[in-house]
Amino acid sequence: RLGQAPQAIVKKVHLGEGIEEFVVNAPLIAAASKAGQFVRVLAWEKGELIPLTLADWDTKAGTITLVVQAMGTSSLAINAMKIGQAFAGIAGPLGLPSELHRYGPDETVVFTAGGLGLPPVYPIMREHLRMGNHVTLIAGFRSASLVFWVGEDECVEQLRREFPTLLDVIYTSNDGTFGVKGFVTHPLQEMLEANKTSKGRRIAEVVTIGPPLMMRAVADLTRPYGVKTVASLNSIMVDATGMCGACMVPVVIDGKMVRKHACIDGPEIDAHLIDWDKFLPRFGQFKVQEGRSKERYLA
Ligand code: FES
Repeated sequence: RLGQAPQAIVKKVHLGEGIEEFVVNAPLIAAASKAGQFVRVLAWEKGELIPLTLADWDTKAGTITLVVQAMGTSSLAINAMKIGQAFAGIAGPLGLPSELHRYGPDETVVFTAGGLGLPPVYPIMREHLRMGNHVTLIAGFRSASLVFWVGEDECVEQLRREFPTLLDVIYTSNDGTFGVKGFVTHPLQEMLEANKTSKGRRIAEVVTIGPPLMMRAVADLTRPYGVKTVASLNSIMVDATGMCGACMVPVVIDGKMVRKHACIDGPEIDAHLIDWDKFLPRFGQFKVQEGRSKERYLA
């Protein structure tokens, strides 16, 4: 039946400019998934395997939820897929699940989610709330046209209704068309300052997911305050088994550079240990090839 094939799309929701949500048949992956993990998606047989952090899963329905922003050839091709079409392959769940700790009533776990960072943040934040941890979500978007999942019946507000005393939410947008004008770092800075003077809840940890430059800015901001900060990395991946080195993350431990791999050591890595100067250029390592491929796809 339509949509019942393995890896078939059973639901597709247009979320914003170039952003689509897919609910996909994948019962085995749904049954094994844990917050913080990702899957590798192959849109067509000779396509590219791209990593996507799980936005949600439903063990009863046997589905997983993925959110994709059209950037290059693969994401453009995925976003053009329709309900009933099937992916050539989906492998997962991959990566280490988020490390979850139970914190005290005067502490909060702060999530800074930039743009497409909101879907991967969602299941991790939900786990913290289920454990009884207080959570502060700072969700930032470039502009109102790129805002999603914040409506009355959508993920964030549903969680706010379910956990009214445990979840605080701050929305920001770069251009001020939605929420507070500015970057996610602005409210975070205010919270860190308040922490110093023991006002408000103590920040137990910060989890940051979104554009690499944003994650670096968050790491730079929290470092002087000594607040544990974890970045969930959406690195370029090839084999996702720790063999090819494409997703290498240079990390400095006791003054020594150590190679971690986002696919098997992550995707969550201590953001204060990452050598961001060496790491950030890695996101552009296939820029030329990606540009050519996109030109060919659009031609
Ligand atoms: Fe190859 Fe991680 S993707 S080592």
